[in-house]
Amino acid sequence: MTTVSPAIDAHDVSVRYGEVTALEDVSLQVPFGSVTALVGMNGSGKSTLFKTLTGMVRPAHGRVRLDGVAPLEARRRRMIGYVPQSEDVDWAFPVSVRDVVMMGRYGHLGPTRRAHRADREIVDSALERVELADLADRQIGQLSGGQRKRVFVARGIAQDARILLLDEPFAGVDKKSEAMIVRLLRESAAEGRTVLVSTHDLHALPALADAAVLLLRRVLFHGPVDEALRPEQLARTFGLDVLGDGRGDRSSGSGGDSSHGDGEGGR
Ligand SMILES: Nc1ncnc2c1ncn2[C@@H]1O[C@H](COP(=O)(O)OP(=O)(O)O)[C@@H](O)[C@H]1O
Ligand SMILES: [Mg+2]
Repeated sequence: MTTVSPAIDAHDVSVRYGEVTALEDVSLQVPFGSVTALVGMNGSGKSTLFKTLTGMVRPAHGRVRLDGVAPLEARRRRMIGYVPQSEDVDWAFPVSVRDVVMMGRYGHLGPTRRAHRADREIVDSALERVELADLADRQIGQLSGGQRKRVFVARGIAQDARILLLDEPFAGVDKKSEAMIVRLLRESAAEGRTVLVSTHDLHALPALADAAVLLLRRVLFHGPVDEALRPEQLARTFGLDVLGDGRGDRSSGSGGDSSHGDGEGGR
C-alpha cells in the first residue's frame, strides 16, 4: 500500500460545449513537487482543462482525480487553489483584498465560520509575501492587473492548497509581479505542492517550469521545457505548421517529432 497518487491525473478526458469539442481524449499526469506549464493558443482548451480539474465543467467522458479523489471532493477538502483567468472574475464585486485572501481560510474555519486570530495572521502573512499588506483594505477592482493576480496567489498560499491551478497569471502583468509570482510558484513546488500554470510567455518557461504541456484540444506534447520549445513543436501548437503535415519532417536533425510524452495522437 505504498502507491502514491499523482497530484493531477486526467484520463481520456473529452469536453464538449454543444457542438464545440474543447478537449479531446486528454490524458495528463502531474506529480507533486513540480511546476508544469500549460501552453496553447487562444481557444486551445486551457481554461476548459482548469475548469474540468476544478469540477466546474463535467467531461463528456474520461476521468479526473486529484491526489486520488474526484474534483468536487477535492474542492470540498480545499485541496485546490485556483487562480481564474481575469475574464472570469467580477472585479466590481465589493470585496477587499483581505476578504479575498480570507476566502482561502474558509475551509479551515470552524462551524461558526468565524476567523480566529491564527487565520488573520495567516492572511496577513500571505499578503506580506505578495507585498500587498499596504493595500489590504482596497476593493480588488482598484488594483493593477499584476496586483490582482498576486491577491489570488496570496489566497492560494493562505489556503495552504497542495494543488495550485493558475489560468494565465502573467497576462497583463507587470515585470515585478511576474517575477514575484514565478518565485512563489517555484517555492510552492519546492515545498511539495503541485503547480499547473497556463501561459503565453514562452521566454519565462525555463525559469518557471519543470515540464510543459502543449495543448491544442489534445495534448500534443508533455515533457521537458527545452523540448517543448523546439520550433517544430511550437509550430504545431500555435497552428503555424503550414509547411508540414504535423509530423515535424523537415529534417531538423532531431529525428522528427518527439512522442515520448503522453497523449500524442495523430490527427
Ligand atoms: N462556455 C462555453 N460555451 C461554449 N463554448 C465555449 C465555452 N467556453 C469555451 N468554449 C469554447 O471552447 C474552446 C476552448 O476554450 P477555452 O478553454 O476557453 O480555451 P483557452 O483558455 O485555451 O483560450 C473554444 O473554442 C471556446 O470558444
Ligand atoms: Mg483561457
